[in-house]
Amino acid sequence: MSTADGSAGRDNTDVMTPERLAILQERAKRHLWLHFTRMSAYATADVPLIVRGEGQYVYDQHGKRYLDGLAGLFVSQIGHGRTEVAEAGARQASELAYFPLWSYAHPQAIDLAERLAAMAPGDLNRVFFTSSGSEAVESAWKLAKQYFKAIGQPGRYKVLSRSIAYHGTSLGALAITGLPGIKEPFEPLPAGGVRVPNTNFYRAPDFAAADVTTFGRWAADEIEAAILREGPESVAAVFLEPVQNSGGCFPPPPGYFQRVREICDRHGVLLVSDEVICAFGRLGYYFGSERYGYQPDIITFAKGVTSGYAPLGGMLVADHLMEPFSEGQNTFLHGVTFAGHPVSCAVAMANLDVFEKEDLLGNVRSNERAFRATLEKLNDLPIVGEVRGDGFFYGIELVKDKASKETFDDDESERLLRGFLSHALFDAGLICRADDRGDPVIQLSPPLTCTQQHFDEMEQILRSVLTEAWTRI
Ligand SMILES: Cc1ncc(COP(=O)(O)O)c(C=O)c1O
Repeated sequence: MSTADGSAGRDNTDVMTPERLAILQERAKRHLWLHFTRMSAYATADVPLIVRGEGQYVYDQHGKRYLDGLAGLFVSQIGHGRTEVAEAGARQASELAYFPLWSYAHPQAIDLAERLAAMAPGDLNRVFFTSSGSEAVESAWKLAKQYFKAIGQPGRYKVLSRSIAYHGTSLGALAITGLPGIKEPFEPLPAGGVRVPNTNFYRAPDFAAADVTTFGRWAADEIEAAILREGPESVAAVFLEPVQNSGGCFPPPPGYFQRVREICDRHGVLLVSDEVICAFGRLGYYFGSERYGYQPDIITFAKGVTSGYAPLGGMLVADHLMEPFSEGQNTFLHGVTFAGHPVSCAVAMANLDVFEKEDLLGNVRSNERAFRATLEKLNDLPIVGEVRGDGFFYGIELVKDKASKETFDDDESERLLRGFLSHALFDAGLICRADDRGDPVIQLSPPLTCTQQHFDEMEQILRSVLTEAWTRI
């Protein structure tokens, strides 16, 4: 197709001349559809462009630097511009660019599966690759359904997940997602998604607000209540993130996961730990379930497994779930073309080499207190209700009234988050996420290489922008 400047497709100009920039904007507005984005916002404004990354920073088309406080989208664990990881991908593309994992294997998928199984907790020894997190979640639900049919419990198909939790956008994953606003246009969704309370202690019900352990016990017991209400013989799995992202970083209360594990065992329900964000160092461990000391039946992962140098996802599956599929003519009737792509697997291996060489888990563990303490300085601002999270993963909840925890109404949220904060933080040089899918929060999830200088930079930018935001309410 010819483009606005009359050329066919992309030209090879690397230098961002004003003419090239104008052409890119024109093409973006004409041809590109941004995800979860109000495209009308760009009718009169430029589409933000990021053209390069280095370490903890990314750069726009004018050479302006931004601290990547969200690791892209909870992805860039090792940071940007790692040539050794890029070169591992390029080498693999030259040797074997593609071959499917349908009936065949390739050494890169085998090596990575063996390495992930060795890192994973307990007997999660089997890796089923996908190309994204939604596909991983979708695969886990499909596996649970087919597994129960294979072992003679065909009635089990329902899945429990928490209110406001995000588990992906493909229709199955969306049925597990607990955000009504992004589900409604696609209803009816696949049957079987059931909601349970999340672990937002800041907004705990009064009867459980005095003590976090009591609150956690209540939230876990609500899972059992839902299983009993639905009928245990109809429930296949519970999907939980170690730290729930959406809503603003809800860590699990003490004992919560241990109690959930007991409940799942009691009712024969699988526990799926959705670690699409929380795996690969985000919480200072390879897997979030390790940090909180529980044993899932399935871990879903994506994002940080390659730090974004190529797309990859997958699920780590316990031995007992594989058993029925190891016999006779049984086959897990599921697959996608690009799952376990050789280039992505080679990149994942190189990414994990960086983790080991630079002790990135150690960096998170030794710096997480300092990160928290630096962000907690923001507690002196009237708009900051709570700073919460673990590892290198924090949410800052914004409130209208600190004492009563009163939140913003829809109009105020719209003006504050979309109308001001998102742009102001970006303009001030910080990439993070102002999110009002639950109560309004700012999410931070920087590369795992960050140290005090980056924490200070985040705090300073947030302080000045949040101070200004308060004057606009
Ligand atoms: C917990 C969780 N599960 C699943 C997904 C879906 O992953 P993807 O966007 O790669 O499909 C996400 C994405 O952010 C996620 O955070």
